[in-house]
Amino acid sequence: MGRIFDAAAVDEIPVGSHKVVTVKGRTIGIFNIDGTFHALPNICPHQIGPLCEGKVSGTLYRDKKTWELHWTEEGQIVTCPWHGLEFRVQTGECLAYKQVKLRTYKVTPVDGRLLVEL
Ligand code: FES
Repeated sequence: MGRIFDAAAVDEIPVGSHKVVTVKGRTIGIFNIDGTFHALPNICPHQIGPLCEGKVSGTLYRDKKTWELHWTEEGQIVTCPWHGLEFRVQTGECLAYKQVKLRTYKVTPVDGRLLVEL
């Protein structure tokens, strides 16, 4: 178990938004997806771009049988602002390179504050 730090107020990150904060010298992105908080490092593994400053939206999925494109996972995918790699916020998984997975941080709301385990 890591150490716990106060990272932000719950009110600073409403549902569907995210915020980049610095906690004990580490810059992380905290995301509120449907009322559940998630956190990722603000460093893209491609060329260390500021990943969590990117837009959060969904992604295109191609049905392997019909070849039709579908928009999916709206509000759950962060896109690196530098070159566009997409990461699933809840798991840290890179959509293009499944072997690349960011670490995630546990975020717990307590008394109006967001506590992050580093
Ligand atoms: S630095 Fe993030 S995609 Fe290149």
